[in-house]
Amino acid sequence: MPDTTKHLLLVEDEAPLRQAIADQLGDRGYHVEQAESGEAAIARLADFAFDIIITDLRLPGVDGSAVIEAAVARYPDIIAIVVTGYGTVKDAVEAIKRGASDFVSKPFQIDELLHVLGSSVEQRRLKSENAYLRSQLEERYRFEGVIGKSRPMARLFQLLETVAPTNSTILITGETGTGKEVVARAIHLNGPRRMHRFVALNCSAIPETLLEAELFGHVRGAFTGAVGNRQGRLEQAHRGTVFLDEVGTMSAALQMKLLRVLQEREFERVGDSHTTKVDVRVIAATNSDLARMVAEGQFREDLFYRLNVIPVHLPPLRERKEDIPLLVQHFLAIFRNGATTSLTVSQEAMRRLMSFSWPGNVRQLENAVERAVALSAGRTQIDVGDLPTEVQKAQETALTTAVTLPEDGLDLDAFIADIERDLIQRSLERTGGNKGKAARLLNLKRTTLVEKLKRLSSPE
Ligand SMILES: Nc1ncnc2c1ncn2[C@@H]1O[C@H](COP(=O)(O)OP(=O)(O)OP(=O)(O)O)[C@@H](O)[C@H]1O
Ligand SMILES: [Mg+2]
Repeated sequence: MPDTTKHLLLVEDEAPLRQAIADQLGDRGYHVEQAESGEAAIARLADFAFDIIITDLRLPGVDGSAVIEAAVARYPDIIAIVVTGYGTVKDAVEAIKRGASDFVSKPFQIDELLHVLGSSVEQRRLKSENAYLRSQLEERYRFEGVIGKSRPMARLFQLLETVAPTNSTILITGETGTGKEVVARAIHLNGPRRMHRFVALNCSAIPETLLEAELFGHVRGAFTGAVGNRQGRLEQAHRGTVFLDEVGTMSAALQMKLLRVLQEREFERVGDSHTTKVDVRVIAATNSDLARMVAEGQFREDLFYRLNVIPVHLPPLRERKEDIPLLVQHFLAIFRNGATTSLTVSQEAMRRLMSFSWPGNVRQLENAVERAVALSAGRTQIDVGDLPTEVQKAQETALTTAVTLPEDGLDLDAFIADIERDLIQRSLERTGGNKGKAARLLNLKRTTLVEKLKRLSSPE
């Protein structure tokens, strides 16, 4: 049970009136503390975060307006209500300027105060909900743009559009750094649960013994150190989405409990005998081959099928090289963080970026761009030298790794001739047309290079 009792500080110098109001508010479920002066109120505010403060405006010493100001300065989200003495709206307006939410005029009926209080609480709730929505929308803008226009990505977007509006469980697979989490968020933000939370849990980052409590929560005394009741990630994600990353690393015992969540949407907090129900959408991700783990008896088959309702596979970056320039631009914009001078990437650097095999996928590319931006400080162009060494070297192996055998085959001789021509061309560019140096770059005799040049430019 979350603690929903509101803590309220009541500041009023007339003791009998103060006690009467406190009693009535107490009866309505508020947890009320009293202060008889502005000074006492400010002292109390220093060490306790009240939800609500109600203060008389006219107080001996520090007046109510100053109390409000102090309260709001310390707790911007506090609900502050002033009680004005003589129906002088002017003073009330002044207090509102200083941060009060509303006011009541003396003498008032308790119902009047309760009404003002209720609507201020509601307003505050809406305000924080809006702030939350706004932050989610900003995130949405960022995450909706999962970047990519290659064929596999276009197909992925189509699939996402279809599945996001549903509540079905999704299993995202893909190598490390391919964007599994980005895609999971995009699904959440495009679905019916976007107003609620997206809660991520990386199952491999948490020791097995703690994972269960992290996922399901625990009750006080469930284990050493469990000092209070705590919600798990599943409960935090109630009505929203829970993202279970690296789900393949879960122990057999936890796999069984997760299966129950997927089947019944219920579980028990660690140490609890009561069953908790949740309404969550589950998106799981893994970079291991779950089907194989099932075959090898390391992952429950029934759980696999429950998770894999809609499989979403993210192809490795080396299989969608045409996305690289786009991603580079995207990350350039991010890491330049609004800088107005222009920064481009030289064609040669871009070629290396596109030739590299990116075992760490988009994340590795992102890091490479960040590094290059830093190294290029003061220049207008990122060059090969700004790239990580392994990427600089990419060219030598590029052609062999970049080649995929098309479905309908290819003309080997013509293909090899293309590659030769391209490499000779580039070596000549690099050496400023010096054939001797170009030949050395390609580990050829000068005469062989000249011969090849002739043959390649005038095929028989
Ligand atoms: N298509 C994309 N468009 C824009 N940014 C992307 C894209 N794919 C990945 N990224 C960025 O690359 C980084 C890695 O992405 P993410 O964390 O989603 O990968 P992952 O597949 O979950 O990796 P891991 O398996 O290592 O957890 C993030 O900074 C993310 O913003
Ligand atoms: Mg991840």
